Amino acid sequence: MLVLGIETSCDETAASVVEDGRWVRSDVVSSQIKIHAEYGGVVPEVASRQHVATIVPVLRRAADEAAIQLADLDGIAVTAGPGLVGALLVGVETAKALGYALGKPVIGVNHLAGHLAAVFLADRLPDAATPSPPPPIPPDPHLALLVSGGHTALIRVDGPGATTLLGATRDDAAGEAFDKVGKMLGLGYPGGVAIDRLAATGNPNAFTLPRALPRRDDLDFSFSGLKTAVSVMLQGRAPPEGQELADFAASFQAAVVGVLCRKSRRAIALQGIPHLVVCGGVAANRGLRTGLAAAAAEDGFQLYIPPPKRCTDNAAMIAAAGTRLLARGDRAGLDLSVDPGLPL
Ligand code: KG4
Ligand code: ZN
Repeated sequence: MLVLGIETSCDETAASVVEDGRWVRSDVVSSQIKIHAEYGGVVPEVASRQHVATIVPVLRRAADEAAIQLADLDGIAVTAGPGLVGALLVGVETAKALGYALGKPVIGVNHLAGHLAAVFLADRLPDAATPSPPPPIPPDPHLALLVSGGHTALIRVDGPGATTLLGATRDDAAGEAFDKVGKMLGLGYPGGVAIDRLAATGNPNAFTLPRALPRRDDLDFSFSGLKTAVSVMLQGRAPPEGQELADFAASFQAAVVGVLCRKSRRAIALQGIPHLVVCGGVAANRGLRTGLAAAAAEDGFQLYIPPPKRCTDNAAMIAAAGTRLLARGDRAGLDLSVDPGLPL
């Protein structure tokens, strides 16, 4: 089954062709980061306009790189929420127009379900010399730590679409905290990647920052206190530079990673499920990947983390999640709309 995925929920215009919900035949992501960096964050109206300008060339490239004709497709999967309303509309209207013109079924996909499905994907690009070995598939039930710019949650997954929220952030998402602290440190937008890079050469014990664990026993998160602590530390002093900046980045990252690891281990113990999927943009963070790998070795659970390019927003994950829905007969009508606050 050949499915085209379309993703335009935020600041990436992406299209991808995926075979049988697992094999990535093409994966095109056009990032608007440079455009929004000028404003220090994503400007919704600018994002929508940019999606309009980019969506058709991105779709064409996805079909070309997969070496298929659009007529070869078995269906189209598109992000219907959550996200920015104007940005989502560009993807959804394009998908419906394409589905109507080609006579192909269309399905709306929850962006968060897409992140959860990224772990099933394996590269099979037509020009790849050696196809990558397929990653192991997590059994159901499994747990998922979803850490992105808008969400931080621990989820129990009993099957496609059968999810239970075990805990979530009470304030900022982990990615949001990375981005806000990045801004405070003068690292531009988005701060997550810059902090990750700096942290590699910094001392994580150089600065003492709070590790907020709201009610130690539950599975909720809170990052606003940490953000405030950083802001207070930076007040009335020269901005850190050089090694001190790296130390600061490493200390902040260690505080976030510490909380994420601790709550994930707690979820595994409470649920008695030794399989943890990690997804969302922050799952690309090297400190988090290393921290969770160490926890997995110590506690004896299986860890499943997609490669960094499939942690951040992409359309292959939307195609993967959409394939499962299309395969069981789900179809969207021409009245498919967007829902900026769509829950998982
Ligand atoms: O999943 P994603 O691409 O978009 C959303 O659905 O939100 O996540 C974007 C978030 C941003 O906050 C970005 O700073 C963060 O993921 N991020 C990272 C890294 N790469 C992306 N945070 C920490 N370390 C990284 N390497
Ligand atoms: Zn995302």
